[in-house]
Amino acid sequence: MKRRVFLQKFGALSLGVTSVVTSLSACQVAKKKYRKLAVNAENELVVSRSLFEYHNYVLLDHPVEDYPIYLAKIVGNNFEALLMRCTHQQCTTEAKEGYIVCPCHGAKFEANGRVLQGPAILNLQKFSIRTDENNIYVFIG
Ligand code: FES
Repeated sequence: MKRRVFLQKFGALSLGVTSVVTSLSACQVAKKKYRKLAVNAENELVVSRSLFEYHNYVLLDHPVEDYPIYLAKIVGNNFEALLMRCTHQQCTTEAKEGYIVCPCHGAKFEANGRVLQGPAILNLQKFSIRTDENNIYVFIG
């Protein structure tokens, strides 16, 4: 095999492998980003408190909606669960440490869902939650 042909074939092969690896990595990141949890008989997502050992919030996959749920430890033992659908034009918002931002037009929300900065004027939708010593239960309706 001539050098040029070898380089062309090897180059294409390595590009393909790189693409597959990159795609797999992206999937893994996406899976990590939104935790898929089972829904209990009361139609609640059951979230272990242990997830908050090192982080102040987790992003949960909503089993029905196209938007994830932001579950944050606010102060002490208080939690807030919010649908990450911007109230301006329904873009998926992004969680930051202590607040939520919309990448579409820049709206900002507090970790409790209140609008900090427009153009959104309505707070993020909240979910009812209850807690016990081991878990946080997010009622998804
Ligand atoms: S859709 Fe979020 S700010 Fe416009």
